[in-house]
Amino acid sequence: MSATVTPPPQTKASTAAAQHKTEWETPNDYSLVGERTQEAIQKGYAEADWYQCPVEPAEMRKLLARRNWPAIRDSIFWFGILIGSGAAGFYLWGTWWAIIPFLIYGMIYGGSADSRWHESSHGTAFKTDWMNNVLYEIASFMVMRESTLWRWSHTRHHSDTIIVGRDPEIASPRPPSLLMICLGFIGIPQMLSYVKKVIPHAFGIMHADEQTYVAKDQWNRVYWVARVHLLIYAATLGAAYYYSSLLPLMFVGLPSLYGGWLMPLYGLTQHAGLAENVLDHRLNCRTVNMNIINRFLYWNMNYHIEHHMFPLVPYHNLPKLHALIKDDTPPPYTSIYDAWKEIIPAVLKQRKDPTYFVDRPLPEPKQEAKRAQTYVSADPQQLAGWISVCDALDILPESVVRFDHAEKTFAIYRNAEGNLFATSGICTHGKVHLSEGLVKGQQVECPKHNGRFDIRDGLPQRKPVCKGLKTFSVKEEGGQVLLNLS
Ligand code: FES
Repeated sequence: MSATVTPPPQTKASTAAAQHKTEWETPNDYSLVGERTQEAIQKGYAEADWYQCPVEPAEMRKLLARRNWPAIRDSIFWFGILIGSGAAGFYLWGTWWAIIPFLIYGMIYGGSADSRWHESSHGTAFKTDWMNNVLYEIASFMVMRESTLWRWSHTRHHSDTIIVGRDPEIASPRPPSLLMICLGFIGIPQMLSYVKKVIPHAFGIMHADEQTYVAKDQWNRVYWVARVHLLIYAATLGAAYYYSSLLPLMFVGLPSLYGGWLMPLYGLTQHAGLAENVLDHRLNCRTVNMNIINRFLYWNMNYHIEHHMFPLVPYHNLPKLHALIKDDTPPPYTSIYDAWKEIIPAVLKQRKDPTYFVDRPLPEPKQEAKRAQTYVSADPQQLAGWISVCDALDILPESVVRFDHAEKTFAIYRNAEGNLFATSGICTHGKVHLSEGLVKGQQVECPKHNGRFDIRDGLPQRKPVCKGLKTFSVKEEGGQVLLNLS
């Protein structure tokens, strides 16, 4: 849904601070159907344009390249640790030695799975889609998230990051509850929230908040995922009862509690204590330097500013992206400890003063943010027939350019085989230019939420996209690309 008013400019936190103080009349209304929702829409915070650091389009094209190998290598190692520690726990069960493998198993299952869930939900972990989907379903179950529901919730989180009344994934609402934060380290709030959702879903009930971000044709899928999850838990409980042993639950269910500590340890560094209602990820996300072990467990989610700003970039390229934009972002936190040194006092202050947030100074702007190449029509009066777009050489294989004509925007693509295609230029899910996206095979991937369209017929290929694009004839003639407006 597009905002009906002009979005506010990307603000510095210091400016936002004063503005924000006056906005806190209903400080704990984080529902998605309350007054704060209306306020967010009226003020232009919903589905708004966000600041992006300048990156040369050629560099960005390299970063967007999808590969299978890094995620296959990491997944073999990751599942190896999970299965190895689980097997050791099984054999050592009944002795005190079992504690060690189960601590490792729980950390992978209840903590590190969060990052696998996250990257595969974007479809950027692997080049091959079914691999992303398999990992996504497994990791969703491990971290007690219903896969379909959370795919949509995360889509909204990326549209409206930490916008009160819009973002369903605000992990530290204000005023923060110290009790809930502490219980989060043993997975209690996560489990309660899961149970509160999964049971109604199994009975075909969708909460009002969820109805605002899950497409209606996906509701049935949400219900079936909930039923499958509950069936797995019922079978596990049945096995525990049958064998009169806690052991089955040590493998399924309980790891989210005894291994849940890693998720908030990493996860709260993403946004806790930072600004709400700003349209600049440098102000509401943290990038934290981590060592190689943490980066493996967290799959580079510590580069959180980079990820939010450019969600098309796969996790294995985030360090390179960080190197490219670091002069245009606040300095990264030097360690997890460094981030928590800021989060704890911020959270304590927010308990007394919910308007407080960490005000991150931004570097002086160095140059205009570059966007993908835009071509503008030489004859805006022309209403039909063939019109020149650009030189044929300007559209490289597996790339897309934007063409603006009169009031309309088109996306002109060339696939790897050299064939040209043209569609309307704005994603049907949000007001985002597809020229900023990624051409992959015969599809274009939207830069905002990784939705995809077939460039040949404009049909949707990946959620959250539900509606197709208009297509247009395009041809190459005399070294020019021509588009048929008719
Ligand atoms: S704006 Fe959401 S997929 Fe394009």
